[in-house]
Formats: sequence, structure tokens, C-alpha cells
Amino acid sequence: MIDLARHDRIRALRWQPEGALALLDQRLLPREQRWIDCHEVDQVVDAIRALAVRGAPAIGIAAAYGVALAAREPGADIARIEAAIQRLWAARPTAVNLMWALSRQREVLARTGADAGALLAEAQAIEAADYAANRSMALAGADCIAEGSAVMTICNTGSLATAGLGTALGVIRAAHAAGKLRALYACETRPWLQGSRLTLWELGQDGIPCKLIGDGAAAWVIKRERIDWVIAGADRICANGDTANKIGTYGLALAARQHGARTMIVAPCSTIDPATPEGDDIEIEERDPAELLGCGGVRIAPEGAAGYNPVFDVTPATLISTLVTERGVLHRPDRAGIARLLGGDPG
Ligand code: MRU
Repeated sequence: MIDLARHDRIRALRWQPEGALALLDQRLLPREQRWIDCHEVDQVVDAIRALAVRGAPAIGIAAAYGVALAAREPGADIARIEAAIQRLWAARPTAVNLMWALSRQREVLARTGADAGALLAEAQAIEAADYAANRSMALAGADCIAEGSAVMTICNTGSLATAGLGTALGVIRAAHAAGKLRALYACETRPWLQGSRLTLWELGQDGIPCKLIGDGAAAWVIKRERIDWVIAGADRICANGDTANKIGTYGLALAARQHGARTMIVAPCSTIDPATPEGDDIEIEERDPAELLGCGGVRIAPEGAAGYNPVFDVTPATLISTLVTERGVLHRPDRAGIARLLGGDPG
């Protein structure tokens, strides 16, 4: 029996009984733990755009609560709530959990009208389901990992990115609790440093040893340290299994394949987008090159230098050994396996 209770303490967001959504401002971590109280939907739109809340499942949950906030605003009616849904929808393009959660809220809106209570209940149900999915995935993923394994991960896929234990980081937490990890490496994840700022902060609180590596060191460390598993989350999984995740994931999967390591993607079914046939159809978010031309608010590149800042990439399904979801584990995910999974028949 794996004990996960002590790894389940960090939260990215909280619904406040007085009717506000509190978000832990992830731009300030690990230096400062400051909560933002959102009383209006546009505060949630701004928080998603600015990465105060981030990580695919957390974005979806925050957006669902954003719709509940919109329904509480003076003069709220179906048209105004629908306009708020559209602003939330446009906040970030790649993580499909955002559109998935908003589609669920749209259905509630259509069924109940501008019923603030029903929209809040739906947001809470989405959060609770993600919490439960995290736990199932953590245990199922850890089950695939042999004792004495070395693991590499990227970005932050933990409690800060979800409602609970996390996706990839949930599996890592469970594998650590089961005593299976020989070594753990986290990529720093330039330019926003989700690896060094957020993942190391979460792991530090849990007492899970991890070494930070520069993104450029990843291929060499996979070879040199005999990594067994690259474990990553996902922002959108296509009908054929191609997977968008934080920029750098594709490179890790290539290096893993070259050196005999396996790549595991961990994501709830809310990240699977059957309407997107394959990776080339995914809109990849490009952010301001200024994020890349400096570091920690300090300009590094010379004035006038240009940058290109795509923040996600797509790993083709053929490089993914294992897909872990709350409905089951797919080895060598493909179109047929994913259709089976979504049809309720775990692969
Ligand atoms: O830009 P971010 O920080 O929102 O990107 C997050 C990621 O790429 C995560 O790996 C992904 O959302 C899965 S998180 C459970």
C-alpha cells in the first residue's frame, strides 16, 4: 500500500466560501507565497494569460470557476456569461483542458440558464474529478516503474498544475513513496523556469531528492546516467496520440528513444482532444520573446536582439511508450487505443 497523504498538501487554487477564487500566484514562487483573490471573471482571464495559474488541468479548473464568478456579477445573464466564456477560451490556445472545462460550463448554461449555483457546482465537480484522477494515475503510473529506476521530468506537472498530486509528478511521488526511484532529474524549463522554480519547490516540501539540470544537458544526462523513464504531462493529446507538452519534451523523447529509455505521458482524459486528428493540427502558443531574452526580469541578450518563443512542442505518438490516464494505461498509444480508452474500455 503506497502512502500518498504526505505528498498531498500543496494547492494551486481554492474556492473561498464568500464567493471568490483564490489563486496561488505562481509567478512569485518559490520566493513568495501570495494568493490572489479573484472576485470577477476578468481577473481569472488575466491570471491565466499571465501564468499566475498554469498547467493544463489547473487552467481548466480555474476557468470553470471563472464562469461561476461571471454568473455572480451584477446583471449576469446568458449572453454576458457566454461572452465571459469566450474571453476565458482565448486566454491560452494549447492546453485543451481549458476548452474542455468551458464546454462543460456551456452545457450547464444551456441546461439551467444563468444559474450561479449550478455553474459553481460544475466547477467543483471538475476540480473533484481531477483530484481523483491524479490519484488513480499516480498509482497506475508508478506500477509501470521498476525498482531502482532513474527518471527525468520537465516543466511542473504537480499540485501547482492540477487539483491534487499532479500528473507526471504524481507518478513520481508514488514511485518515490514505493521506494522505486534510484535518481530523479528535473529540467529547468526555460524560459519560465517551471522546473527549477516550481517542481523543485514541490519536491523540496515532500522531501523527494531531485537534481536540477540545464535544459541543454538533458540528452547527455539521459545517456550518462542511464535514465529509464522520461515522465511528462500533456497539454493536448490528439486522436492519434501525438502529444503537445512543454517545449523540450519532444527533444527528451528523441533522446530517450536513442538511448533505450522510455517516455511516459501522464494526463487525465480531459487532456485528450479527439477533435484534433494529429500533432500538426495543434495551435502552439508563442509567447513574448522578451521572456527568453532576459532572465528573472533582467535583460540578458543585447538590446535589439530578436527571439522566437514557442512554449510547447509536439511529441509524435511513435515516441511515446506509455500513456497513463485515470481510465487506464495504454502501451504504444495509437488512434485505436485512444478511441478504446475514450469509449470507456481501458486499453
Ligand atoms: O506553460 P505551462 O506552465 O502552463 O505549461 C505546463 C505544461 O506544459 C505541463 O507539462 C502540462 O500542462 C501538464 S501539467 C499537469
